[in-house]
Amino acid sequence: MDCTAPFADPLADTAEVWLLAEEDVDRFAEATGGAALLTDEERARHDRLLFPAARRRFLGARLLSRQVLSRYADVAPDSWRFRTGTYGRPEVEGCAWGLDFNITHTNGLIAAIVVRGRTAGVDAEITPAKPEAMQFAPKVFTPLENEVLRRNREGQRGHAFADSWVAKEAYTKATGMGMCRGFDAFSVHRLRDGGLAVVDEDIPETERDLWQVQVLQVWDRFALGVAIRADRSDTGPLPVRLRSAIPDLLPEVARS
Ligand SMILES: CC(C)(COP(=O)(O)OP(=O)(O)OC[C@H]1O[C@@H](n2cnc3c(N)ncnc32)[C@H](O)[C@@H]1OP(=O)(O)O)[C@@H](O)C(=O)NCCC(=O)NCCS
Repeated sequence: MDCTAPFADPLADTAEVWLLAEEDVDRFAEATGGAALLTDEERARHDRLLFPAARRRFLGARLLSRQVLSRYADVAPDSWRFRTGTYGRPEVEGCAWGLDFNITHTNGLIAAIVVRGRTAGVDAEITPAKPEAMQFAPKVFTPLENEVLRRNREGQRGHAFADSWVAKEAYTKATGMGMCRGFDAFSVHRLRDGGLAVVDEDIPETERDLWQVQVLQVWDRFALGVAIRADRSDTGPLPVRLRSAIPDLLPEVARS
């Protein structure tokens, strides 16, 4: 099978993040084949989830990633198979077409990032973070990050917390370690030009330029962290394009 990228590759010079509102999962599932597209193992995981909202988000994330991946490769949505890394990071199994993806789901939003020839992580949280979340700051941020957080105006602190959190989690999800890596072991700092940079002693110096981290605002309610690692340093950062599952993936559902 020819597993190279299609001629007009939408991912040649962009990363795409697909958004699905949780309230749209049912009609998305209806239009795309629903749980029938899942493997037996995925269906078993889905059925084990106790809360309807968790089941809905799990199903939405599975269906969204399958539909999205099929846009960039000649593979039917139900044919994708996934393996998990040491810390549980899902990756495309077999002929991956150079694709890497990552998903996140939170109350109200499911998002999937897709890149080709790079590695990506994504995380979404409601913003601003609740005041109660501040108690976790000393555990998840470095002393310097905590100081920066504390110096935010009070009304901004919840947004600053959410931004820092999603940037750090997106980074650990791209590395595949997730929360198995202590979040206070590395930091994300804002640069003078407004961009973000990861400061992590564990990244070899030669690889530091390969990383890009950013936080996007979604629908006024969510902070979306994106981390992308390039394979070669000469490729530079990738623009990140936000796309809506409805209507961009399923225009007929949007019209109905
Ligand atoms: C990955 C992790 C950071 C996600 O946290 P979260 O904020 O609850 O969830 P998100 O919605 O952002 O992401 C969940 C998705 O990330 C993906 N994911 C799972 N493990 C991952 C990992 N190690 N790296 C990257 N992505 C991962 C999965 O697709 C998962 O979706 P699913 O739960 O529907 O299977 C967290 O679950 C984690 O650290 N897992 C590693 C394994 C673990 O729990 N170890 C215990 C400590 S060592």
